[in-house]
Amino acid sequence: MSTLRDSLPWTSSPLIVNAPMAGFAGGALASAVTLAGGLGLIGSAVDMDSLRKELRIASDSIASSHIDSPPGTFPVGVGFLAFIAKLEEALPVVADFKPAVVWLFAAKELDQYTEWAAALRKASPETKIWIQVGSVAAAVQIARTTKPDVLCIQGADAGGHGFEKGAGIISLLPEVSDTLAREGFSHIPLVASGGIVDGRGVAAALALGAQGVVMGTRFLAAEEVIIHPKYQAAVLQARDGGQVTARSKLFDQLRGPSIWPEAYDGRSLAIQSHKDFVSGVSLESLRTTYKEAVGAEDKGYDTDLRGRAAIWAGTGVGLVNNVESAAKVVQDVRAETMEILSRGAKL
Ligand SMILES: Cc1cc2nc3c(=O)[nH]c(=O)nc-3n(C[C@H](O)[C@H](O)[C@H](O)COP(=O)(O)O)c2cc1C
Repeated sequence: MSTLRDSLPWTSSPLIVNAPMAGFAGGALASAVTLAGGLGLIGSAVDMDSLRKELRIASDSIASSHIDSPPGTFPVGVGFLAFIAKLEEALPVVADFKPAVVWLFAAKELDQYTEWAAALRKASPETKIWIQVGSVAAAVQIARTTKPDVLCIQGADAGGHGFEKGAGIISLLPEVSDTLAREGFSHIPLVASGGIVDGRGVAAALALGAQGVVMGTRFLAAEEVIIHPKYQAAVLQARDGGQVTARSKLFDQLRGPSIWPEAYDGRSLAIQSHKDFVSGVSLESLRTTYKEAVGAEDKGYDTDLRGRAAIWAGTGVGLVNNVESAAKVVQDVRAETMEILSRGAKL
C-alpha cells in the first residue's frame, strides 16, 4: 500500500493538512503549514489570477527553505471547486506551478472528477489527485472511475460545504475503508476531515484508519489566514459547536438562488438570518436584509450570532480559542497526537 509520505516526503507524521478554503487559505497559510511539516493547500473559486498570486506568495516564502518535494513538483497543493471552476482555466495554472497535490471537491456530477483528473494528470504528471467526498457510495464510485491518489472523507461536522445527507467521521471513515477494501481499493490512502481541531481528533482519525487529517475551522484562527476581523472574532467566541452551528442550504440562498450542486448544503454559525428563517421570516425579506448588511463595513459578519452573512465553521469551533501561527497549530496538534498515541500504547 502506498503511504502519503511517498508523495509528500517533507511531511512529518501524523500528516496535518489545512483545508483549501477559497478566499481564506492563501499562499501565506499554505506555505506556513508546509514549512511546519504539514501539507499546505491554497483554495480557489473562479479567479485564477488571484490563485496565481497566492501561489507566488507561497513560492516566495518556500524558496529559501530546503523542502524535499518530489522532482517536478511544488510542495503545496491547490484546491478547485469542480462545479464552478473552469477546467480549461485551471489547467495552465497547474501546468505552470506543478503543485504536489490538486484537491477536487463539489463536482456537479461525480463523473466530472474523471474528466478533471485525466486532464490534470496530463498537465502535471507528478501532481497527486485528492478528492474530498462525504459518502460511502460516492467514495466507491470515484475510486472506480477516477482512480484518485487520495480520498479525503468528509464527516458531517465539517465547516463549510458538504453533502446535505451526511454521517459523522467516526462511522463514515471505517465504513468507507471497509467498503473500498471489499471492492479492491484498499490501496487508496484515506484522510479525514470534519470536526477535527486538536490532537484528540487526530488520534481518533488515525484510529479510524485515516493516514492524516484535514482541518479547516482550526486554521480560521491561524495568523496567516485571510479573514475579516469580525468573522474571526465570531469563530473565537463560539462555544458548544452543535448548538451554535447549523447545516442548511439557506446560507447559499441569501445572495440569490444557490449555485451549489443539489446534494450540497453548508455548515455555518447559526447567524441571525438562520434564526429568522427558522422562525418563519420569508427568504425574500432575508435577502433584502442580507444585501444591506453585506454592503456595510463589517460585510454582514457579527459576533453573538447576530450576523447576516454566513460564518462557515464546523462543530469543532468551540475548541478554537486563540489566534496562533499556523506553524504552532501544526506542531502542537502533532505533539498532542503523539502524546495521546503513546499513552494509548501503554494501556
Ligand atoms: C471557511 C471554510 C471555507 C471552506 N472552503 C472550502 C473550499 O473552498 N473548498 C473545499 O474543498 N472545501 C472548503 N471547505 C471545507 C473543507 O474542505 C473541510 O471539509 C472542512 O473545513 C473540514 O471540517 P472542519 O472545518 O471542521 O475542520 C471550507 C471550510 C470552511 C470552514
